[in-house]
Amino acid sequence: MKELMQKLRDASLEAISAAENIDGLEALRVKYLGKKGELTGILRQMGQLSAEERPAMGQLANALRSDIENAIEERKSALSEKLMELKLEAEAVDVTLPAKDVRIGHKHPMYNVLDQIKDIFIGMGFEIVDGPEVELADYNFTKLNIDEGHPSREWTDTFYFAEDSSILLRTQTSPMQIHAMETKPLPIRMIAPGRVYRKDEVDATHSPMFHQIEGMVIDKGITMADLKATLNKVVEKIYGEGTVTRFRPHHFPFTEPSCELDIRCHKCGGKGCPTCKGEGWIEVLGAGMVHPKVLSGCGIDPEEYSGWAFGMGLERLAMGEYKITDLRLIFENDVRFLEQF
Ligand code: PHE
Repeated sequence: MKELMQKLRDASLEAISAAENIDGLEALRVKYLGKKGELTGILRQMGQLSAEERPAMGQLANALRSDIENAIEERKSALSEKLMELKLEAEAVDVTLPAKDVRIGHKHPMYNVLDQIKDIFIGMGFEIVDGPEVELADYNFTKLNIDEGHPSREWTDTFYFAEDSSILLRTQTSPMQIHAMETKPLPIRMIAPGRVYRKDEVDATHSPMFHQIEGMVIDKGITMADLKATLNKVVEKIYGEGTVTRFRPHHFPFTEPSCELDIRCHKCGGKGCPTCKGEGWIEVLGAGMVHPKVLSGCGIDPEEYSGWAFGMGLERLAMGEYKITDLRLIFENDVRFLEQF
């Protein structure tokens, strides 16, 4: 029996020190020490021993059990240490490697121009407001005094969400005038830049989506003189001091009187050139005094309050500033184009 135990000791310790992983060790534990294991098998034969021999064999068996157990534990911790080392090695970061090249974009040229405009108006005490591009016909047209029969309301000009729907993509930022008057306390000084949509074919000067900046002032005693003085100041800040302007009579349903503002061509000084298409003048924006009907429709008493508003195309401004000759370049987002600004 002693020999059997010695054999088991030699075999088990050798197998344990050769085990490659934790699962293998667990299998060895069962093989040697389990209920049906080899040591138990030897102990079963104790009955055949004499009463004198039994205690010594029992002691030997216990020592063998604890030696096997210890060997398993030792091997286990050696294996998990090795595992950890491998893991650390695999996950090691070489901090001396060069970093990945991160390409950082930059602001779109049109938004540079928009930021410049915002700065100018913020400096004059205006607030910047934002509003929905999906709009009700009520706000895009009706409350702006644009009658049912007006051509801009046609299905062919405007993106409606369904036939005879009253929901549409706004065709101008002017509905922001109504939103501001309906929700803001008076007086109001605001600009509202944003996207607008019209059913136009794409070409060098047209796009079904473009940007406008709406502006509006409502207060007591506001006159056309305020409109002219403010817009002249804005034009000088954009195009430089001494830029000559011209307020030309025009018609918009929601302003009365209405006008368009032209600047004298900065390229030819007014003689006529390709930049101003031979006109000597460049159209910059539409404007006017907010129509009394629009004011009262928003619950503002036109006897007490008056105001002016303007609407300006942002793309055209950016194209002028950066000498961009094709509108499509602004929306195509070709990096080779954008990187120039
Ligand atoms: N909404 C007008 C347009 O799109 C411009 C405008 C705005 C005119 C405000 C007058 C006052 O042409």
